[in-house]
Amino acid sequence: MDKYVVFGNPIAQSKSPYIHTLFARQTAQAMTYTAQLAPVDGFKAAADDFFASGGRGCNITAPFKEDAYQYASQLTERAKLAGAVNTLKKLDDGVILGDNTDGEGLVQDLLQNQVELAGKRILLIGAGGAARGVILPILAQQPELLVVTNRTLAKAEQLAELFSGYGNIDAVALEALEEPNFDVIINSTSAGLSGQLPGISDKLIKPAVTCYDMVYGPKLTAFNQWARDLGAGKTLDGLGMLVGQAAESFMLWRGIRPGAKQVKNELRRAMQ
Ligand code: ATR
Repeated sequence: MDKYVVFGNPIAQSKSPYIHTLFARQTAQAMTYTAQLAPVDGFKAAADDFFASGGRGCNITAPFKEDAYQYASQLTERAKLAGAVNTLKKLDDGVILGDNTDGEGLVQDLLQNQVELAGKRILLIGAGGAARGVILPILAQQPELLVVTNRTLAKAEQLAELFSGYGNIDAVALEALEEPNFDVIINSTSAGLSGQLPGISDKLIKPAVTCYDMVYGPKLTAFNQWARDLGAGKTLDGLGMLVGQAAESFMLWRGIRPGAKQVKNELRRAMQ
């Protein structure tokens, strides 16, 4: 049996073992996938032990994504630009490859929900690690424009600069966003975790807009509730991104694309 694991601290809340076990069943892969708590300062030792004992690959969640970035001996371009790794794979020659599948998970979830990004105007709210991880895959869809906005504008400007060679990207202050011309608005901030809104103008929400909140929960998120109340045509939450990033990791490890939709539906049902 090929061994896979997810490392985090805390880890009990992780849905990854459930998701990957369903993927493995769906695609008839002989593998196990479990959750492992690593000490906050002990990622390297835990990963060393895992790979030394025959582990084939792992996912990495908070707070270890930067540690995993350092740990990898080779990085994909999207991991390099994200500055963080959520997936490690031991290659046949023993090299540990680091990848970041979060952004592609978001993009695939949008596409599966009939939300195209090509040629569209996209607003990304937030400029932390979650935002940085999704920019390259969004730009790869060739939107007309990606605007990054953030409470601390300087951080949005840094991201726009970092990714300026990869597509049409700009940074705009929250309070300067007045034009209601975005097609897709993505909330990557952690504001919702404390019940707060990220602070964009009501004017940006109209029926043709899709709002995507990277967080999720049993109830509509605060941001999506706000957007719906203002008449947003479609709201999606990060449960699909969670399953999407898992599907991309699974694909990297096993070379088979699992069906994300069924697993997302099962998770949603289990959360109610
Ligand atoms: P993550 O890795 O989840 O992105 P992070 O790097 O701590 O976490 O970034 C959190 C993001 O949420 C930042 O963009 C932060 O804005 P600042 O850069 O100005 O701190 C944003 N954020 C957090 N709470 C917020 C709030 N109440 N309103 C608006 N933005 C908020």
